[in-house]
Amino acid sequence: MLFTSRTIKTLTAVALLAAVGFTTQAFAGEDDIKYRKATMKAVGGHMTAISTILKTDAGRPGDIALHANAMADLAKISAHVFPEGSSKMDGETEATMAIWEKPEDFKKVTMAFIAESEKLAQVAGSGDKAAIGAQLGALGKNACKACHDDFREKK
Ligand code: HEC
Repeated sequence: MLFTSRTIKTLTAVALLAAVGFTTQAFAGEDDIKYRKATMKAVGGHMTAISTILKTDAGRPGDIALHANAMADLAKISAHVFPEGSSKMDGETEATMAIWEKPEDFKKVTMAFIAESEKLAQVAGSGDKAAIGAQLGALGKNACKACHDDFREKK
């Protein structure tokens, strides 16, 4: 006989291991997507918090620097929340394929995000609401909008 029952058992075990490995990978992509969405949600939260403080009497002026510093840190994190294997082939995501197809263009907007949020963190401590508002606008235009236009699926 070509296949002994022992061989068949071994083959089955190998096939099972391969299947488990594959499943783990599929879940890993979903975890990466979950982490990315949570990170972006936090970015959105700080953005709304800052603009609310600027436009209303809510919060305390000193809070702006805390939100801006957190945003600058999150911008750096954003540089590594788009790993291979976290596209719409791997789970529920609004990230477009262009992220992985045009890595140089994507890197440019990520660098703009880091630079603009760093500038925001610098002016945030000044208490100068006009200057902070202007930089918040620049961040929104050159980072959030610039990236979402090309790399986030429109609803
Ligand atoms: C370098 C590209 C990039 C930059 C810069 C960027 N985003 Fe995003 N953002 C994305 C992508 C891609 C998604 C979709 C993520 C997904 O569904 O996996 C997203 C999703 C979001 C979401 C939805 C998160 C959720 O609940 O699923 C919010 C809110 C958000 N971004 C806010 C912002 C704000 C505010 C800024 C600027 C301060 C910003 N983003 C800058 C690429 C970017």
